[in-house]
Amino acid sequence: MHKLEVVNLRVAVGGREILKGVNLSVSSGEVVVVMGPNGSGKSTLFQTIAGNPKYEVLDGDILLDGQSIKELAPEERFAKGIFVGFQSPVAVPEVRFAFLLQAMANVRMGKKLTDPNPQVLAQAQKIAAELGLRPDVFNRGVGAGFSGGEFKRAEVLQALLLKPAFVILDEPDSGLDIDGIAAVGNAITKLASSGSGVLLSTHYARVLRFIKPTRVYVMVDGRVALEGDETVIKRIEELGYQGYFKELQNFGELTSSK
Ligand SMILES: Nc1ncnc2c1ncn2[C@@H]1O[C@H](COP(=O)(O)OP(=O)(O)O)[C@@H](O)[C@H]1O
Ligand SMILES: [Mg+2]
Repeated sequence: MHKLEVVNLRVAVGGREILKGVNLSVSSGEVVVVMGPNGSGKSTLFQTIAGNPKYEVLDGDILLDGQSIKELAPEERFAKGIFVGFQSPVAVPEVRFAFLLQAMANVRMGKKLTDPNPQVLAQAQKIAAELGLRPDVFNRGVGAGFSGGEFKRAEVLQALLLKPAFVILDEPDSGLDIDGIAAVGNAITKLASSGSGVLLSTHYARVLRFIKPTRVYVMVDGRVALEGDETVIKRIEELGYQGYFKELQNFGELTSSK
């Protein structure tokens, strides 16, 4: 059983404070959803957990099983089992996708980065078929000419293959057709039931057809303004963020908002 905790986290980007004291947690087997209007700081939170050096931690901490990871390099966090998929992944066309998968698996298994790992590739091909990814994807450069749907599926493929302790996905359901949402949503459920802790952001209730969130956090202006269950997602879909916040303020239930 593992626990990842974000404690009173304050983060600046380019000298501007974006996260102003975020608290949340995710444990093994949980599916935790982060929502919030555009610009509320969801991607900043995920980038900071990944260890992107552009994101400066001003205060607070990120704890893995009670130990601070905020000084660790991104690859050290990955080696500890924290896998982060990004909203806008970067393409690395000179590296074949098959090579990337083998290298990542080797890092996780404590092997040499460049060791051939045919079992991993065979497993990846099986997962790709389940996700509806064409097999030619393995011979292409990472992200080279990937469609939005291929990017998201390729990320989930990495998570299913590596079964990391924590899978953190930034809007995994955006830009996907309904089959893609089903494939990604079912994969998230599978990851959680096989023991990974999943933290994801989304804007849409449609993903609820395929996942059952343990907990939902709503971020506003760099803080967690609200914690609840999946009804929060449904209300936001019905009323929009502004309408929902207004309703909560009327009932005195919102801890902070603009
Ligand atoms: N790399 C960056 N450089 C400059 N500003 C950034 C960067 N990343 C995020 N920000 C700013 O931080 C705020 C929060 O953005 P973001 O974390 O992307 O929000 P969300 O993912 O919730 O839409 C925005 O005002 C955005 O402009
Ligand atoms: Mg974002």
